[in-house]
Formats: sequence, structure tokens, C-alpha cells
Amino acid sequence: MKAIIYSEYGGPDVLHLQETEKPSPKGNEVLIRVHAVSVNYGDIIARNFKNLPASEFNMLSLFRIMARFAFGFSKPKKQILGNTFAGEVEMVGSDVKQFKPGEQVFGYTGENMGAYAEYLCIPEDGILDAKPSHMTYEEAASVPYGATMALCLLRKVDIQKGQSVLIIGASGAIGSAAVQLASHYFGAVVTGVCGTQGMESVKSLGAGKVIDYTKEDFTANGETYDLIIDILGKGSFSKYRASLRQKGIYMPVSFKTSKLLQMLRTSAGGGKRVICALATPKQEDLVFIREFFEERKIKPVIDRCFRLEEAAEAHSYVEAGNKKGSVVLTL
Ligand SMILES: NC(=O)c1ccc[n+]([C@@H]2O[C@H](COP(=O)([O-])OP(=O)(O)OC[C@H]3O[C@@H](n4cnc5c(N)ncnc54)[C@H](OP(=O)(O)O)[C@@H]3O)[C@@H](O)[C@H]2O)c1
Repeated sequence: MKAIIYSEYGGPDVLHLQETEKPSPKGNEVLIRVHAVSVNYGDIIARNFKNLPASEFNMLSLFRIMARFAFGFSKPKKQILGNTFAGEVEMVGSDVKQFKPGEQVFGYTGENMGAYAEYLCIPEDGILDAKPSHMTYEEAASVPYGATMALCLLRKVDIQKGQSVLIIGASGAIGSAAVQLASHYFGAVVTGVCGTQGMESVKSLGAGKVIDYTKEDFTANGETYDLIIDILGKGSFSKYRASLRQKGIYMPVSFKTSKLLQMLRTSAGGGKRVICALATPKQEDLVFIREFFEERKIKPVIDRCFRLEEAAEAHSYVEAGNKKGSVVLTL
């Protein structure tokens, strides 16, 4: 089969189209013919992991060490990137009951990656479900990672209907899904924060107001929120404290030890607090997302599609920071 292989860490030009062995499903696995795969934050980080300065890894240092073991210290162990896909079931293992050949599906392979390829195998109880009926493969491929992460994280905080939520990083994979879920499912009043190019798409997802972080400092406009979600964790509790309402929550989605300590310090007392949480999505979360998106006819925003063989170009495009929605590789 054809796949984008990378055998060394580096810039986009380490990604090459090559022939490699087609996987065959074990008893509990589903073999999928991939039609579309999205280019995520994790793909960009994993591609250049060895050269990534510790300061640019915006999660706990312990996770960086664990990820270096999982992905390989000097060379990548997992040579095929991509974990958020849509495609068609080609074949199933002898024990598989939920899926059958010919079904259109979408899913997320997590740190196993392997989706920049014509075929991939995933356990039937993995993060896999029928493709939303109203979406194209390209649209469906952009959903599973961001939407399941956003759902898991929003469930960690008890948002009430009508509460005010600020999402910093609202045009990215997790942020754009968080805008849709917070406004259409939890009934919150959402303000999104993103760069100039993402403003229109964030508005279209359900944000009542969108702030361009390159032009306006939202901490200076006097608005206050019940929940501030900071996707890249670039801000801090002290910076946002005055923008939180009484008992308001600051949730950095990317966090290091200092923010964990702030969580401990603010956990008692019943005042404003910090919540750091890890999302651990499961199959039922993707099923929820599919039903929710189908019922409301919600669609993700696709910025650009590239052919699989243009993976290096797609990575350069994403890294240049100009995307206004998801970037997808098609097969
Ligand atoms: N806690 C967990 O369990 C968990 C799970 C998965 C991922 N993560 C973390 O989530 C992060 C990736 O999220 P993602 O995939 O949604 O990323 P993404 O798709 O790259 O989106 C990043 C967002 O941040 C915005 N942004 C960039 N610079 C900014 C700035 N200076 N101020 C405000 N916003 C800014 C971008 O807006 P523009 O493009 O408009 O500039 C975009 O909306 C990673 O740090 C990862 O470690 C955490």
C-alpha cells in the first residue's frame, strides 16, 4: 500500500510517499481503507519531536519524556503519522461483531498514529464509529480528535445553561469543537478568541462574539466569564483572574507543573479556581459526537484539502499558521 513514511525527525521534507506492507487485521480488529485523514497538532509535534525545544512542548515535562519513549529518541519508531481519519471498512477480524465490510466509518487512533496510509487497522472497541451521514469523508476526518477531546474536557466542568464561556484557541481542532458543544449542547454563551483569519469560521460555529487576539486584549474590556478555556495554555490564572466571575474556572488544556500547583492551591475555599484535566476519550464519546452532529446537522470547517502525496506541503501550510479550519489529506 501507499503511505507517507518518515524515518527521521525534521521539517516537512522528511515526509515521503512510499510503498509499504498492507496491514492485516487481528481477530478483534477492523481493516479500514482510508479516504481522508486530518493534519493535527500532534502530527506536527511528532514529526519534529527530537528537535522540539522543551519550552515549546506545552504539557507536563513527564509527558515529553513518556512521548520520547513512545515515539523514539533518535529516530521515529512509528513511521506513519496521522490519527484522525474517515474511510470504509475493507475487512474485519474473526471476532469483530460491530462493523462489517463496506461500512463508512470515522475514528481516532491516538498515539498509535498510522493513518497517513491507504489502510489502517484499529480494534473494534477503539475510537471508531459509523461516519456521520451528512458529512463527506473530508469533513468526517477532521472531527474525532478535536470533538472527543473537547467533549471530555467540557464534561470535567459543570457548565450550566446560560453561563458565559470564553474559549482561547477557538479556531483550532479542540477549540472549534468546544465552541460548538458549549453553545449547542451545554447552552452556554460563548466568546471565542483566535487570530484574524479564524474569526469568521468561529462565528459560524456558534460563538456569540469573537475576539482577535492579535488586535484586542480580552482581559482589558471589562467582560467576565464563568469558564475560561485556554487551549494552548499560553495565559495564566493571575492574568485571567479579573476576567473570571465569582467561582469562575480557568481551565488550561495545555499545562505544566506550575498550573497543576495552582490547581491544588485554588481547589479549596469555594472561590475562583484552576482545573487542569486530561481527556481520555472512548468509543462512546465518538458515538455521542456522531449523534449530536447528525441531529443538529453541524459540520466542521475545512480550510484546505491536499492529496496524500502532498503531506509535506500540507504540514508546511499548517506550520505557517494560516489555516482557517481543518487541513485534510485525501486518498
Ligand atoms: N488536556 C488534554 O487532555 C489535551 C488533549 C489533547 C491535546 N492537548 C493540548 O492541546 C493543544 C493542541 O490543541 P489543538 O489541537 O486544538 O491545537 P490547534 O488546532 O493547533 O489550535 C490552536 C489554537 O490556538 C490559537 N492560538 C495560537 N496562538 C495563540 C495565542 N498567542 N493566543 C491565543 N490563541 C492562540 C490558534 O488560533 P489561530 O490559528 O487563529 O492563531 C488556534 O485556534 C496542545 O498543546 C496539546 O498538548 C491537551
